[in-house]
Amino acid sequence: MEENNSKKVVLELKNITKSFGDNQVLKGFNLKLFEGENLTIMGKSGSGKSVMVKCLVGLIQADGGSITINGEDITKMGQKELDILRTEIGFLFQGSALYDSMTVRENLEFPLRRHKDKIKNFTGTEVLVKEALDDVGLGKTIDLMPSELSGGMQRRVALARALILKPKILMYDEPTTGLDPITSKEIIELLRNIQLKYKTSSIIITHDVDCARVISNRMILLVDGINYAEGTYEELLKSEDPQVQAFFKN
Ligand SMILES: Nc1ncnc2c1ncn2[C@@H]1O[C@H](COP(=O)(O)OP(=O)(O)O)[C@@H](O)[C@H]1O
Ligand SMILES: [Mg+2]
Repeated sequence: MEENNSKKVVLELKNITKSFGDNQVLKGFNLKLFEGENLTIMGKSGSGKSVMVKCLVGLIQADGGSITINGEDITKMGQKELDILRTEIGFLFQGSALYDSMTVRENLEFPLRRHKDKIKNFTGTEVLVKEALDDVGLGKTIDLMPSELSGGMQRRVALARALILKPKILMYDEPTTGLDPITSKEIIELLRNIQLKYKTSSIIITHDVDCARVISNRMILLVDGINYAEGTYEELLKSEDPQVQAFFKN
């Protein structure tokens, strides 16, 4: 933890709460993401990981707490500021969530059309699409439909789509779920290369301990709606807390 004192916090959640009816999912969740790090969030299925990240990107509104990105409270932002901010954050949804009726190219062009202002500074749509696909090793699939791709390739296209606006912050919700072990490894490798190439700061949600071990600079365990334990993989592995140990047992 000590070494993080000098690092810049790019994103912070303070005391986030969220309920659905009687179901209290988040009960005061805290998180700091430091510049350039890969932060993994682990938690049991149904513990609120996706809800947390959806609050973060504004797909769900939290009941309470604050969300600050680059020092600015996003709950106090107007629509225009929020739209600009969204171009700085890439989001890989759980599953791949590609548009089935669009080609790979059209899927990638979609965020570009929504954020015309930002791409004015870039070299043109065609170049951006090709570059993003090359980054994930899929340059040749540009005119294919998602149904013509394997699950691993679909995940890569979704990743290319998350990268296309050159975001500074990336969020990956279960990037390896549903993939076979070899494909999972390839995706993890890709996420590491992206961190190195673009110096992004990332939040990775996973329940895959191997993925967490390889990819995390730091981890947070979400238990009972709070950030129950934090530390590096090695630190958490050594913990004697039974709730923490449970994550590493299977
Ligand atoms: N839109 C919603 N409406 C009602 N309940 C929801 C909604 N989204 C999630 N939940 C509930 O919130 C809890 C956490 O879900 P989720 O964040 O998807 O878990 P996970 O940690 O597996 O990603 C679950 O009990 C789920 O049923
Ligand atoms: Mg989830």
